[in-house]
Amino acid sequence: MERVGFIGAGAVGSALARALSRRGYQVVAVASASGLSARRLASHLPNCLPVETGQAVAQAAETVFLTVPDRIIPQVAAEVHWSPAHQVIHCSGATPLEALDPAARQGARTGVFHPLNSFSTSDPEAGCRWVRESFFAVESHDRAFLAELKALAHALGQGAIEIPGKWRPLYHATAVLVSNYLVALAATAAGLWSEFGVERTTALSALLPLIRGTCRNLEVYGLPAALTGPIARGDAETVASHLSALADYPSVLELYTALGVAALPLAQEKGGLTEKAAASLRKLFAEKRTPGKGGAAEWDA
Ligand SMILES: NC(=O)c1ccc[n+]([C@@H]2O[C@H](COP(=O)([O-])OP(=O)(O)OC[C@H]3O[C@@H](n4cnc5c(N)ncnc54)[C@H](OP(=O)(O)O)[C@@H]3O)[C@@H](O)[C@H]2O)c1
Repeated sequence: MERVGFIGAGAVGSALARALSRRGYQVVAVASASGLSARRLASHLPNCLPVETGQAVAQAAETVFLTVPDRIIPQVAAEVHWSPAHQVIHCSGATPLEALDPAARQGARTGVFHPLNSFSTSDPEAGCRWVRESFFAVESHDRAFLAELKALAHALGQGAIEIPGKWRPLYHATAVLVSNYLVALAATAAGLWSEFGVERTTALSALLPLIRGTCRNLEVYGLPAALTGPIARGDAETVASHLSALADYPSVLELYTALGVAALPLAQEKGGLTEKAAASLRKLFAEKRTPGKGGAAEWDA
């Protein structure tokens, strides 16, 4: 990769551009919708110009990252005149590679380079660290370019995972499960603390060490060892008390039972749960979900 440019200077564009620059790549041009974020990013990079348009980025650089919101990737790819000298990359987990077909039709090599991490706009320095800690899902129909993307993933972060296009929706769903839905779970749990008079922010502060400890266990002990708690122990009495406590919160009860069912095979794999204990837990969960026994049909009524 000789000269690199960015169309889009938000959370991911800024983090990747800085990470590339620190690794010795020449990031030469950057554009954004308002121009403001492009100017800010360029001011932190040596010999990088903020430019007005995506076309100007393509004129200055051979490798161009389209780090714009997913929905406008096809539009931006179609607005620019590309040449066979170009390599055009998007960083979206969910968007198909084919969104870059307007560039491919003009001879450019196209690829996906999705950092498997959560980036916020507020802290670009942290963004660089997140790049370093990330794996990247890569895709390209061009074998040589795919190899380049893999090498880049190793140079910038933890390495590459090749995800063929047909599996990307499933891959991205797993990312949403462990990232966005973890936030939703934390919000759901913290929100319930208001019932005993603790406001959400305080509740989150109290729950965070537990969340961190669980992540640490996942990191250190892996699966299934990181699973602790009543299901891992086969403690049906405690689970039954949770189900009763949650009876007044139908949507939370639904979440609790669905995740409880998902935890059962893990607890069995870990070895703390006999088949008999698993069967009684399964029965408890099933009763909660069966119409007429406090199940889903009643919640909907
Ligand atoms: N955020 C994450 O956690 C994350 C993680 C993995 C992958 N991704 C992917 O990374 C890509 C970028 O996401 P992001 O979170 O960095 O988005 P973002 O923070 O919202 O930034 C989007 C950038 O695109 C610019 N932009 C919007 N319309 C444009 C246009 N027509 N022409 C040129 N620039 C335009 C914006 O310009 P202004 O700043 O001037 O408004 C902004 O700099 C997406 O494909 C996303 O799926 C995001």
